[in-house]
Amino acid sequence: MSKSARWDSKDESKHLPIYQHKHNLIQAVKNSTFLVVTGETGSGKTTQLPQYLHEAGFCKKGNIGITQPRRVAAITVAQRVAQEMQCTLGREVGYQVRFDDCTSQDTVVKYMTDGCLLREILADPGLSQYSVVILDEVHERSLNTDILLGLLKKLFSSPAKASKGRSRPLKVVVMSATLETDKLSAFLGNCPVFTIPGRTFPVTCMFGTAVGPKDTESTGYVKEVVKMALDVHSSEMAGDILVFLTGQSEIERACDLLFEKAEAIDYRYDVQDQTVEGLLILPLYGSMPTDQQRQIFQPPPPGIRKCVVATNIAATSLTINGIKYIIDSGFVKQLNHNSRVGMDILEVVPISKSEAQQRAGRAGRTSAGKCFRIYTKEFWEKCMPEYTVPEIQRTSLTAVVLTLKCLGIHDVIRFPYLDSPEERFILEALKQLFQFDAIDRRGRVTQLGELMVEFPLHPGLTRAVLKAASLSCQDMLLPVAAMLSVENIFIRPGHPDKQKEADKIHRALAAKSGGMNDFATLLTVFQLCKSSDRPSEWCRQNWIHWRALKSAFSVETQLREILLRLQQKRDFPVETFDGNKGELFRQCLCTGYFTNVARRSVGKVFCTMDGHGSMVQIHPSSSLFDQEAELNWVIFHDVLVTSRVYIRTVCPIRYDWVKDLLPKLHEVDVYELSSVAREEVTDEEMMKWETREAAKRQPEVSAEDVM
Ligand code: CDP
Ligand code: MG
Repeated sequence: MSKSARWDSKDESKHLPIYQHKHNLIQAVKNSTFLVVTGETGSGKTTQLPQYLHEAGFCKKGNIGITQPRRVAAITVAQRVAQEMQCTLGREVGYQVRFDDCTSQDTVVKYMTDGCLLREILADPGLSQYSVVILDEVHERSLNTDILLGLLKKLFSSPAKASKGRSRPLKVVVMSATLETDKLSAFLGNCPVFTIPGRTFPVTCMFGTAVGPKDTESTGYVKEVVKMALDVHSSEMAGDILVFLTGQSEIERACDLLFEKAEAIDYRYDVQDQTVEGLLILPLYGSMPTDQQRQIFQPPPPGIRKCVVATNIAATSLTINGIKYIIDSGFVKQLNHNSRVGMDILEVVPISKSEAQQRAGRAGRTSAGKCFRIYTKEFWEKCMPEYTVPEIQRTSLTAVVLTLKCLGIHDVIRFPYLDSPEERFILEALKQLFQFDAIDRRGRVTQLGELMVEFPLHPGLTRAVLKAASLSCQDMLLPVAAMLSVENIFIRPGHPDKQKEADKIHRALAAKSGGMNDFATLLTVFQLCKSSDRPSEWCRQNWIHWRALKSAFSVETQLREILLRLQQKRDFPVETFDGNKGELFRQCLCTGYFTNVARRSVGKVFCTMDGHGSMVQIHPSSSLFDQEAELNWVIFHDVLVTSRVYIRTVCPIRYDWVKDLLPKLHEVDVYELSSVAREEVTDEEMMKWETREAAKRQPEVSAEDVM
């Protein structure tokens, strides 16, 4: 980075709307414990406020921590701020996301995911390292940010705890786009709201014809989006394009199509790397390499139009300068609890109207812009909800309930939620934790639960790892846990011939591990690659994503470190086993995956045993797909819901191994578990409530109704 480029970005920041309010903002933070800061996206909240507070001396008494719901945002923003502060990333300015810690002793401005701060609170409930904690992107309403809001509110309800071990009280800043700020302020004891006046320009929105109310499940919109981008490119004035799609594979397909089509338009131009006919095509999604992400923010060469094809991350978390045209697919990928299969599933769903407005607004930052929606007005009216439902009301709460319990918060129903989740979701989480032996019948955290909370993994997977560790076979389970924590490792090329070749090689890899266990295949791939002299070359030959495997190696090391630390505690469980090694591996898996057991029903159809009794089939990517024999009982890692429900990453088991565990799926009395959650309720009230519950078993009875 040259000196002048550094100077430029610092200078540029003086033109941001937030700059004029620097002094008042610093005063506002000094004057109150909680402060809500709001302003249009791109006004400079995320990159500038931490720098202002740093300049004002807040780092003398502790660090400044800024949370982000998304890892890419935490990383790229930290990069930018390090550049503006003219320091090396990881020194004064650093970031921490799950499995990637780029901070040092010197770090005083730390960007991190909300999940990371939640883990820090577990180790240090008063957040004594920090002088300021900034919760950013609160309007996104991610599960972890919502929980952090409640925890910080609770922390200040007992002032002794909040000031423990500090010379100066902790300051909390909550930043949000211009939504729900009154509600936030009211939640935080009517704290002051600082509004950064925005400059926005009008954006003309146009509806299209491609997606109507009947198309909510189709993915045909990718082609339509590409067509629209090319139309804009050939008929609109200068200005960059931002396209919203839902995920990596879709984005890559759109970029491929854009290359092809743009090339076909005119061969007279030189096709140099990603620049096609004056169009610079750039993908942007979560798991992209960081050096590529950086490119997104650089201005295109003169005379060339930039076209960024992004996930929802570009809606508020990241601001790209120069965007004048938006192409909105109208869809987003969202984690939702699927009641049909009783699990959380990533689904492509229509965005909300407020989200659509937010997307459109990205075109009007520096001058008037245009937003091309590929969906019809009717789709907008009939299929798009007004607001996005907060994550806390639509996903599994198992991990956060365990965190709360480990923080000594037993009454998880009456925790201060900004929006309360439905009680049945809390009960479901308690039930799962009980099934994994993380809490006891009275809802208290067990020793095992305290070990489990240390792992940044799904509780079931953690349970399997801990079982393996107690039997001294963690070397088999840690790599599997790591492989399941990174993006998909198997490459499936688009070209049919190449696809056949890749499939054949992947089948051979599965055969090397016995051929009947997808978890074992993951272990084999991990081990073969690790022991290879030239691992990246090995990956290339075997159609495996080298980048994903590299992450898996790093994740495995980190999980191993956590485990070692826990094993040094005296009370780590030790067990013995006298079966054979292959069985040992699968039995450990059963300890964590007995909630995901399916039994063959008829033909290729299996039936899940978790009480939902869903009919499922083995996904074609599994090495068990064509196997008929001896396959009566299986466990699986996850499901894919299309018109059918497919189970993926599958392994055959014996009924004997889960026989004693399965009753746990049905015998749990959630009312008993939740009675602990309600321990501050009087016995009399509890009885009244239980009688009413038992009589009606009405799920819609809320906690408020009975208290
Ligand atoms: O947080 P808020 O949306 O208010 O704004 P910000 O993220 O602090 O962005 C302020 C400015 O920094 C915008 O003009 C961004 O384009 C720019 N920025 C950048 O150029 N590169 C980054 N990695 C992050 C921000
Ligand atoms: Mg921001």
